[in-house]
Amino acid sequence: MTPAPLKNDRFLRALRREPVDRTPIWLMRQAGRYLPEYRATRAKAGSFLAMAKNPELACEVTLQPLRRFPLDAAILFSDILTVPDAMGLGLYFVEGEGPKFERPVRSRADIGRLAVPDVERQLRYVTDAVRTIRRELDGAVPLIGFAGSPWTVACYMVEGGASENYARIKSLALDDPQALHRLLGVVTDATIAYLDAQRRAGAQALQVFDTWGGVLGPAMYREFSLRYLARIAAELPRGEERVPLILFGKGNGPYLEELAASGAEAVGVDWTVDLGEAARRTGGRVALQGNLDPAVLYAQPEAIRREAGRVLDAYAAGNGGSREGHVFNLGHGLSPDMAPEHVAALVAAVHESSARN
Ligand code: CP3
Repeated sequence: MTPAPLKNDRFLRALRREPVDRTPIWLMRQAGRYLPEYRATRAKAGSFLAMAKNPELACEVTLQPLRRFPLDAAILFSDILTVPDAMGLGLYFVEGEGPKFERPVRSRADIGRLAVPDVERQLRYVTDAVRTIRRELDGAVPLIGFAGSPWTVACYMVEGGASENYARIKSLALDDPQALHRLLGVVTDATIAYLDAQRRAGAQALQVFDTWGGVLGPAMYREFSLRYLARIAAELPRGEERVPLILFGKGNGPYLEELAASGAEAVGVDWTVDLGEAARRTGGRVALQGNLDPAVLYAQPEAIRREAGRVLDAYAAGNGGSREGHVFNLGHGLSPDMAPEHVAALVAAVHESSARN
């Protein structure tokens, strides 16, 4: 079956830095607990993981935000920790504490045992979800596939869950860098296979989330995070099979020039960077995605409109007066206590303000 042609390709055009009628917008964590319909589906499924591992339910929650808001892209509903789960670490969630692993990676021997999973078999539920979502989207908007960055995924693998100070993984980096490079190498190979499987199943763009790269100092960021992001950008297929790759990183502001030279098509930035300055520094070599402070969504619609306009104008100011090459997003994800009405105000504001030339 040949997939339906896209009815709305603003997002893909912006990633190629082509002209668009309005600046496209999608939101990290656009499917999630801030939506009552998400909470209802999750209650029926029993848990987040039961939902993520069921292609029909994953498709349902992927589409929920699109039924409410005229977003310009869908993002696969899944998690960055499906990859280490497939590597045998045993992912589970504790209410209020976030993700945990039954068998975290604690020694050289643990690292030695890690292998690239058989993506087509062990992560089949993800590629099945991608195929289901593409069918149900029927060309309405493009579908984004994603994975965590090797550094960010390794943080969870080594720490065993969320961490305050990254004591275990940072001491591993300093005391036995060779072992950590082995771990990052296996995770990178798995991530490339995983992203490419999502592409073959129908993902039309790919995003890598480097949520924790910013906890590293510059030398360690370059050695343990950036190097592997660049390997992903370089080793995903080129030519006809290539789909745009977005590298999002919290705290990646100091490294925008290097990220723009990595071979990725776009860089996602958090709200601590002026987007105009980011545009000047990257000089049109990549599209930029971002970067409204998510906390703006706690304010009233009037403030949301004003701050969205500020982000749009900052980008254009740094991009020779043009909005081309900008994908609007938050600087990080939506939170469960945000109001859907405020999200609606943001999406409308971005489309309206960017249509005024
Ligand atoms: O953006 C989207 O709408 C797509 C879905 C998506 C989820 N997780 C769903 C999810 C994406 C892209 C992710 C990525 C992810 N997962 C990241 C990187 C992005 C980021 O936000 O920094 C990270 C660090 C994770 C690991 C993870 N998974 C965390 C920290 C949590 C939250 C735990 C909690 O209780 O707050 C999860 C679980 C998770 N992944 C939820 C969702 C909607 C909440 C699960 C629930 O319903 O309880």
